[in-house]
Amino acid sequence: MLRKAILSVVVSSVIVVSAPLVLAHGGAKGVVKERMDLMDNMKDAMKTLSTIYKGEQEYDADTVRKAALIIRDHSGDAMTKLFPKGSAHGPSEAKQNIWQEWERFEGLAKRQQVISQGLHDSADNRSAGEAKSSGHMMGGGSGSMMGKSMMGGGHMMGGKMDTPEHYAAMPSEMVFKMLADNCSSCHTRYRVED
Ligand code: HEC
Repeated sequence: MLRKAILSVVVSSVIVVSAPLVLAHGGAKGVVKERMDLMDNMKDAMKTLSTIYKGEQEYDADTVRKAALIIRDHSGDAMTKLFPKGSAHGPSEAKQNIWQEWERFEGLAKRQQVISQGLHDSADNRSAGEAKSSGHMMGGGSGSMMGKSMMGGGHMMGGKMDTPEHYAAMPSEMVFKMLADNCSSCHTRYRVED
């Protein structure tokens, strides 16, 4: 009696869980499916990271690095090559302005590569309260006290702050937030809202 009841609960929850997976991509094919898969891989990596930064999982620098590399390897050209001109069709949520503003779109994909490399490199900089030798790191609100490696020149190409070295000197949690913001920036502008 009880076993039967448990079994039917298990069976019905399997059905409920698997149904959305089947429908997720709405029958997307070819390059549209490929880029959806790429985005979904990044979403999984971001989920892992967010459980860490929310404190739901113990901080583990190797896990952070692994997830950061997945995202890095899905950025830049690896991402933009899956957006050939005029491929906003079928179930795709890509907007036409991607191809009108290609450089800007490409810039966001490249920036993601830089930030995720920076997240990888910052993985040992645990978030604010827990950081070992950086008690005053959050004190001044700017990076200036973090020393030469960051602000001492040489690392800042063309005066820009968008370099992996810049992010590598920050608490990794902050880099994670910037990475998440970059995902949203691109989606807000170039992805149709549900
Ligand atoms: C350069 C722009 C850009 C960046 C950066 C970007 N995305 Fe996307 N993303 C898109 C576009 C455009 C689509 C819609 C693709 C389509 O439906 O053809 C999309 C779709 C998605 C989807 C839905 C995929 C599906 O199955 O339909 C997810 C999930 C997603 N992105 C996650 C992320 C995450 C997480 C990040 C950051 C780590 C990110 N994206 C960064 C442009 C971007």
